[in-house]
Amino acid sequence: MENYTFPASFAWGAATAAYQIEGGWDADGKGPSVWDTFTHQGGDRVFKNQTGDVACGSYTLWEEDLKCIKQLGLTHYRFSLSWSRLLPDGTTGFINQKGIEYYNKVINSLLENNISPVVTLYHFDMPQAVEDLGGWRSEKTVDIFEKYAQFCYETFGDRVKLWITINEPYIVARFAYEEGILAPAKKHPGYGAYEAGHNMLRAHAKAWHNYNTNFKKQQNGAVSIALCSDWAEPFNPSSAADKEATNRYLAFYLDWFAKPVFIDGDYPVSMKLKISENSKKEGLKTSRLPELTEEEKALIKGTADFFCLNYYTSRKIKHCTVASEDPSFICDLSLEEIKDPDWPQCAPEWLAVVPWGLRKLLKYIKKTFNNPVIYITENGFGQNDPPLLEDTQRWKFFEETLREVSKAINIDGVNVQGYFVWSLMDNFEWIYGNNARFGLFHVDFDQATLPRTPYLSALKYSNVVKRNGLEGQADNYVIKGPITSNKNKIPLKGSQTQI
Ligand code: BGC
Repeated sequence: MENYTFPASFAWGAATAAYQIEGGWDADGKGPSVWDTFTHQGGDRVFKNQTGDVACGSYTLWEEDLKCIKQLGLTHYRFSLSWSRLLPDGTTGFINQKGIEYYNKVINSLLENNISPVVTLYHFDMPQAVEDLGGWRSEKTVDIFEKYAQFCYETFGDRVKLWITINEPYIVARFAYEEGILAPAKKHPGYGAYEAGHNMLRAHAKAWHNYNTNFKKQQNGAVSIALCSDWAEPFNPSSAADKEATNRYLAFYLDWFAKPVFIDGDYPVSMKLKISENSKKEGLKTSRLPELTEEEKALIKGTADFFCLNYYTSRKIKHCTVASEDPSFICDLSLEEIKDPDWPQCAPEWLAVVPWGLRKLLKYIKKTFNNPVIYITENGFGQNDPPLLEDTQRWKFFEETLREVSKAINIDGVNVQGYFVWSLMDNFEWIYGNNARFGLFHVDFDQATLPRTPYLSALKYSNVVKRNGLEGQADNYVIKGPITSNKNKIPLKGSQTQI
């Protein structure tokens, strides 16, 4: 058996996000976020019009989450702060002490158990009050976010050493402000994504500088931004147009944010050219992609202490001209994304399982962004509801993925220092509601106590964490409790299964 080892101090984690797990949407003075508004409006935009009002109930059931984390033996736990739980209207004008107490409890109990907290400041759930001022399309949000970040460093930074400012600006920009699929469901094709992206970049940079100037010396932590990307390959490897389209895909996806932050403060050249070319054709005097001034470039360049990558899937890319009179991000991209029918499919439908894509993406990041320290801050596979508790196939995907990560480290010399499973437990999967289950722990949303039960993958992952690698991963685990091979319905009555 080959050895798939990991560096000695490798961070083994799992990740969650506030809106997806906490519930308590209006508990103890929490202000509404855009996701509260969006889900309460109904309109069939979310699976069965479900909401995150209760989700996994983590606001009151934190101790249950902690049990899961301890059972896995994690060294790190990544979670996000609900901005509007701490600052109900998004500003420091009013601070919700109950929110501080909740996160103090979470952080302190993690540390008592020798688990390092990795804290995301903003994971899609912007306070509604800030959205009402224009949200990420408004420049005002840049300074409001910086003040929120500063408040978090002041309040929790004595104990939190790894910070992530913004989770996946690409997803927010494109799907929340351009296509209007995610909250706050703003549809501004051709402009929304670029404006939101522009402000998120500046907000991130200011939050990084704030830490660097005011806190770094005493607190000695590190700050980054979590970027997601697919891996991409040309549909036809001998087509120059497909190859160029593939580069464009990566430029509009990962490099859009990674190049300014890690290289030179500015957007990718191909992105700037394409958007300004299209803008000209539309008769506009300036590009729809806002320009970064020299001052802004200097502000943004170098504002990450490590690289956070969220990886899920890959695509084959075919060049095409998207016919439309109206400007849009999609038209600017001008390509077709194809899922190879040979790739296994899991839930949700966009998620084709391509473990080798991660290794290629890691190599790309090493080469393109000057060999940064990388944490894979999200990776996972969803199951449809009802899921299999004995998720053998899913674990195979995890194993294969970890092999690819190990090869990236040991063969390609990529500096990966951590891996976080998305997610610790099944949760509110945005527009898919409870129907895409990404958890290492099953959550029974039909029971008031929301019991957590480990999937087989949790047992297997805990072995990897224990061994710091895949070596000797033979089937030497013991399953106690109600895991059966029943293919359709899992028996979830009874007490929580223990590892
Ligand atoms: C997000 C998570 C989400 C996961 C699976 C990531 O893009 O950060 O919040 O649940 O993907 O879709």
